[in-house]
Amino acid sequence: MKVTVFSSQAYDEKALRQHSPIDINWQFLPQKLDALTAIAAKGSDAVCVFVNDDLSEAVLTQLAGLGIFAVALRCAGFNNVDLQAAKKLGVRVMRVPAYSPQAVAEHTTGMMLCLSRKFHKAYNRTRDNNFDLNGLLGFNLYGKTVGLIGTGRIGVATARILHGFGCTLLCVDPVKNDEVSALGARYVSLAELYRQSDIISLHCPLTPQSHHMINDTALQQMKDGVMLINTSRGALIDTKAVIAALKTAKIGYLGLDVYEQEADLFFKDLSDKVIADEIFQRLLTFPNVLITGHQAFFTEEALAQISRITADNLLAYTQNKKSGNEL
Ligand code: NAI
Repeated sequence: MKVTVFSSQAYDEKALRQHSPIDINWQFLPQKLDALTAIAAKGSDAVCVFVNDDLSEAVLTQLAGLGIFAVALRCAGFNNVDLQAAKKLGVRVMRVPAYSPQAVAEHTTGMMLCLSRKFHKAYNRTRDNNFDLNGLLGFNLYGKTVGLIGTGRIGVATARILHGFGCTLLCVDPVKNDEVSALGARYVSLAELYRQSDIISLHCPLTPQSHHMINDTALQQMKDGVMLINTSRGALIDTKAVIAALKTAKIGYLGLDVYEQEADLFFKDLSDKVIADEIFQRLLTFPNVLITGHQAFFTEEALAQISRITADNLLAYTQNKKSGNEL
């Protein structure tokens, strides 16, 4: 079976080769899948893609025209796939629904600690032999109220960690999770979560309903100086509204692992380039903003699991079986 892997990095190639139990003829390409690059998959039986690859109707139609009827996502989120078009074209789409929710939950908590204790500033200061504590005053997570929007796999893993810190947990999710309730977390309305939370962390998928859910109206309802963390998908947040709220100190701390326009930036070394995205550049000017480049999933354990499940999905496809991870 020949599989073309788009948006491939050296670590993807290593992990897929190491952890795929079957004899797959991999073709690794660093390019993002889109209407221009789809042709590179000619001769393949399947494509393997990541979060910023373009699986719109036009691209899926091109793939089907090349005789490619399988898409293996090496991620959980699938907001970049036109599922209706895939169904119409007979293209089977498979994903990795859970590989290490703990990886994302630990990164989320790390962002909270970094911002609350100003690790990012302290790191630079001490390297400059500056041991002055002025400006580094933090706050305890213990006793704080954290609002979790989405209590699926990652939301629950985050709740477990924060419960250990002694936080009060408020949750919003149309589907209630008994494990979260057993930790003492309360399901509340979105308005109550906004009103009461010192820290708000997003763990829901990006859908037409959740697009820009953090907008001016939502921000107005939040506590002054709230900490907002987004390790889910960039477009959950209206970035312009968030910048306005940073300027008025409505938002006191912002941690982002995802960004609405990240496809043009993330997963690349642009250190010798000028970044034209002025909204992103503005975000980087705030001392209370911490940005990581879609890194929350990136642990050895998660990569190994992603590779194993991706290979299993492809194996099931070639055997005309269901892996259970079809969308
Ligand atoms: P999951 O499917 O287990 O849980 C998502 C939860 O969100 C579900 O319980 C669902 O009922 C709830 N939900 C849906 N719409 C909602 C809304 N409007 N408001 C509140 N809750 C809502 O997904 P999982 O594994 O926990 O992942 C969550 C998100 O994290 C993914 O959709 C993906 O976008 C993101 N992610 C980010 C990664 C990173 O590296 N930064 C890695 C993996 C996932």
